[in-house]
Amino acid sequence: MKDIIERKFCVAPMMGYTTPYARNLYRILSKKAFLFSEMIATKTLIHSKNTQSIIANENQNPIALQVGGSEYLDLKKCARIAYELNYNEINLNVGCPSKAVQKGSFGACLMQDKILVRNCLNSMQINKNIDVTIKCRIGIGKNFNYDYFEEFIDEVLKSGIKIVYVHARNAILNGFSPKENRNIPPLNYDFVKKIKNKFPQTTFILNGGIDSIEKAIVMSKIYDGIMVGRLIQNNPFCLKNVDRLFYNKQNSYTVTEDTIIEYFDYIKPKLGTDSIYRLLSPLLNIFFGIANGKKFKIDVHSNMKNNNFDKLEKIFLSFVREKSLLIN
Ligand SMILES: Cc1cc2nc3c(=O)[nH]c(=O)nc-3n(C[C@H](O)[C@H](O)[C@H](O)COP(=O)(O)O)c2cc1C
Repeated sequence: MKDIIERKFCVAPMMGYTTPYARNLYRILSKKAFLFSEMIATKTLIHSKNTQSIIANENQNPIALQVGGSEYLDLKKCARIAYELNYNEINLNVGCPSKAVQKGSFGACLMQDKILVRNCLNSMQINKNIDVTIKCRIGIGKNFNYDYFEEFIDEVLKSGIKIVYVHARNAILNGFSPKENRNIPPLNYDFVKKIKNKFPQTTFILNGGIDSIEKAIVMSKIYDGIMVGRLIQNNPFCLKNVDRLFYNKQNSYTVTEDTIIEYFDYIKPKLGTDSIYRLLSPLLNIFFGIANGKKFKIDVHSNMKNNNFDKLEKIFLSFVREKSLLIN
C-alpha cells in the first residue's frame, strides 16, 4: 500500500550535503520532514559500483531519490533502482545549471525541450507505489516569461505527474556558476502562485530564498509546501522544531547526549568506508551561533585530522551537556 506523504516541509537536494549520513541526522531530528538525496547522474547510478555513499536509504523515509539524465531507458532503470531501495519518490532534476550537467544534456537546460521532459517523466513511471516528480526553475535566461513557464508545466503534467518542486528563479545557462545561479537571478514567487491557480489539482512546492523558519511557516500557509536548502545546510538542527511547527505534533525534539550517541552508533560501522569529514560534517553545525562554539569546533577539526573517533564523540557529548539550554 502506498503511504500518504505530506510535503509541507522538504529538505532540498544538495550535492555534497544531503548525504545518507546527513539524512540520518535529519531523521533523528524530524520524523516528518520530506528528505532528498543528492542528485545522482543516471549513468553513475546504473554503472558505478560505488554509489552507496549517495543512495543508501536506511529507513530515512519519506524520501526522494533525485536523478539527472534525459535518456528514457536509463531513467526507467533508475526508477526501478529507487523503488527497490524503498524510496517513496524519484525526482528528475530540471534545475541544475552547471556546465558539466549541460554537457550531459540534463538539468536546467531541459526546460528548453518540454516534450523530451514529458517523455522522460513518462518513462520513469514504473510502479504506482513510487511517485515521479520534477524539480525545475521558472524559466531560462535573464527575462521573466510566465507564458513560457506555463507552457512548460502544461506539457510535463501530461505525463501524469502530480507533484512539482519549483525553484522560483530563472536559470542562466551562460556566464554564471551554480552558486551565482542560486543568488543572482531574482526570485519570483508570483509565478508559483499563478501556476497553482492554473493547475489546482497539482501539488506545487515552493523553493528558493526561504532563509528562516519564520519565513517557511508563512510560505507553507500560502503554498502547498515549501522546500529549503541553505537554511538546513547552515543549521540542520532547526529541523528539531519542524514536526511541531509544520505537522501539528505536540512537542519539538530535544537535542541531548542521546542524539550524539545515536548518531555515532550509526556511523561507527561506516568508519573506513567514507572520509571522516563526510561522516561527521553533518554534526558540525551544532556549533552554529552558540557562544564559545568555536573552541569546540577547533578541537573537533584537529581530532578529525588524527581520525580520533572516540575523542570526537566525547567532545560532542561534552558540548551538548554544557550547552544544552542554548541548543534547545
Ligand atoms: C551546496 C548545494 C548543492 C546543491 N545541489 C543540488 C542538487 O543536487 N540538486 C538540485 O536539484 N538542487 C541542488 N541545489 C539547489 C537546492 O536544491 C535549492 O534549489 C537552492 O539552494 C535554492 O533553495 P534555498 O534558497 O533554500 O537554498 C544545491 C544547492 C546547494 C547550496
